[in-house]
Amino acid sequence: MTIMDFKVTRNQNPTPISERDAILANPVFGAKLTDHQVVVVWEKDRGWNSAEVIPYGPIMMDPSSAVLHYGQEIFEGIKAYRHQDGSIWTFRPEANAKRLQRSAHRMALPELPTEVFIESLRQLIEVDGDWVPAPEGEKTLYFRPFEIAAENFLGVRAAQRVEYRVIASPVGPYFTGGLKPVAIWIALDSARAGKHGTGEAKTGGNYAASLLAQSEGLENGCSQVMFLDAESATYIEELGGMNLFFVYKDGHVVTPALDGTILRGITRDSLITLLRDRGIEVQERKVTLDEVRSGVKSDEIVEVFACGTAAVITPVGIFKSEQEEIVIGGNEPGQLTAQMRQELTGIQYGTVPDRHNWMLKLAD
Ligand code: PLP
Ligand code: COI
Repeated sequence: MTIMDFKVTRNQNPTPISERDAILANPVFGAKLTDHQVVVVWEKDRGWNSAEVIPYGPIMMDPSSAVLHYGQEIFEGIKAYRHQDGSIWTFRPEANAKRLQRSAHRMALPELPTEVFIESLRQLIEVDGDWVPAPEGEKTLYFRPFEIAAENFLGVRAAQRVEYRVIASPVGPYFTGGLKPVAIWIALDSARAGKHGTGEAKTGGNYAASLLAQSEGLENGCSQVMFLDAESATYIEELGGMNLFFVYKDGHVVTPALDGTILRGITRDSLITLLRDRGIEVQERKVTLDEVRSGVKSDEIVEVFACGTAAVITPVGIFKSEQEEIVIGGNEPGQLTAQMRQELTGIQYGTVPDRHNWMLKLAD
C-alpha cells in the first residue's frame, strides 16, 4: 500500500465553530473528539488495504467481534503541537510507530508500516487541523492510534481481520495542577505485568489490570498507582500510565531499567538523552521500594518525577500505601523536574532548539 491511497470522506455535519472554540478553550483529556477518524483495514490474505479518512462516529461491530472477547488490542498516544507561527508539529512519530509494531508483534496483530502510521497523522491533521489548540496552557491535540481484532469469530486465535484507526482529542495537561506534585498509591497486592507477559506492549489489558489499584488509589487521594514487580513486589516498575525518574542529591538520576515488563516510554527515552546532554549521569537499573524509602528519608533522593506523553513531566510529592507515606522534597516541585519540563515542552512547542531532530511538521 502506498501512502497515496487514503480516500477522504468529509464530515458533512462537523462540530459548529463556536462549540469547537469552547472545547479548545478548556479541553478535558479525552472528553471530546474531533470530526474525523482514520481507518485502515488488514486482512490475512490481502494485508493492509482500504485506507480512509471518514467522519467521526461509532464503530459498527458484531457482538462476536474478537476484540470484545479476547482483548486483542493495542494503542498509542502521541500529540500534535501548534507553534507560534500556526504550524502543526508532532514529536518522534517514528518511535511511536515502532512501539506500535512491537506491541503488534507481542499481541499477534499485524505491524503497520511506519510511513502509513505517520501518513495517518498527516491525513487527520489535513481535515481536523483546526482542532489543534493554540499553544498557551500546554494544550495539544492528542492522537489515539489503535489496532483492534475485528473478525467475527469466537475461536481463540489471532484475528484474520484487523482495523487500525486514529481518533484525536484536544487536551490540556493530564494532571491539571501543572507543576503541583501528585500523590501516588503503591500497589502492594496488585501487579500490572509479569515476566514474559504483555507489560512492554501498549495493550488495553495492562490498563484493565491497573484499574482496581487505580480506584483504590483515588479513594485514598492519589492520582496514579505505582506498580512493583509481579514476582517479588520489591522493585519499582512504573505508574499505570507513566514512567518514573529519581533524582539523587549528588546529581545523578535513576530510572527503572526496561526489563520487558514496563512500557518503553518515549518521554523516558527523550529525557535520558536530554539529561545526558546536560552531563548528568543517568542509571537505568533496578530500583527497590526500600531504596526509595530510605533514600527519601535520608535526603539522598531529592526529587521524583513521572513522565509520559499525556502527563508530560509531573513531580511526585508522596508515595502512599495503607502502611506509610513517603514525602519527597517536602511535597514541593524539584528544580531539575521543572527544568526538564521546560526544556522538553520548549522543544515540542518550538521555543527551544530541536538538537535531536525529534520534531516533524504535519502542516504549515
Ligand atoms: N508507561 C505506561 C504504562 C504508559 O501508558 C505510558 C504512556 O504512554 C508511559 C509509560 C509513557 O510513555 P510515553 O512517554 O511514550 O508516552
Ligand atoms: C499516554 O501518555 O499517551 C498514555 O497512554 C497514558 C494514559 C495515562 C493516557
